[in-house]
Amino acid sequence: MREDQKYYTVRGYQLLRKNKKLLTSGMEDYLEMIYRNSIEAGYMRVNKLAEQLNVQPSSATKMVQKLAGLGLIKYQKYGIIELTERGLDMGNFLLNRHKTLEKFLRFIGCIDVLSETELIEHSINIDTLKNIDSLNRFIEKNPSIQKKFEKFKEELNYGAI
Ligand code: CO
Repeated sequence: MREDQKYYTVRGYQLLRKNKKLLTSGMEDYLEMIYRNSIEAGYMRVNKLAEQLNVQPSSATKMVQKLAGLGLIKYQKYGIIELTERGLDMGNFLLNRHKTLEKFLRFIGCIDVLSETELIEHSINIDTLKNIDSLNRFIEKNPSIQKKFEKFKEELNYGAI
């Protein structure tokens, strides 16, 4: 299976369900950001995390301690954060969920793609996400669909709101 197809495995789904009651939207954002940064370096620093999420280092530290309490990251000395195996699986899922939605919103022609993605990603369920992912893959395999859709939209002429 290709790397980008892995996240809709049974494990990703189970982890999402299991953690749904435990993780707030804010915690999901933290975990996603830690994962983004850990892909290459294998770890992330609390100060950098605070900077990237635009929060105070003290708030970042608090959140990091909560994630550590849930067994999703290891946080020890010198402000270094490392993901546990579960944290890695969850982070991978969260990042791919973000990418799936971002791709879809770009396809349909959203203007404010990033803030829309941030709003939708925390409340979407797995079934909807899977179907959107299927649609993304379908469009990628059939690029002419995108042009047809754009032309169709022009004809509808909703215009700017
Ligand atoms: Co996100």
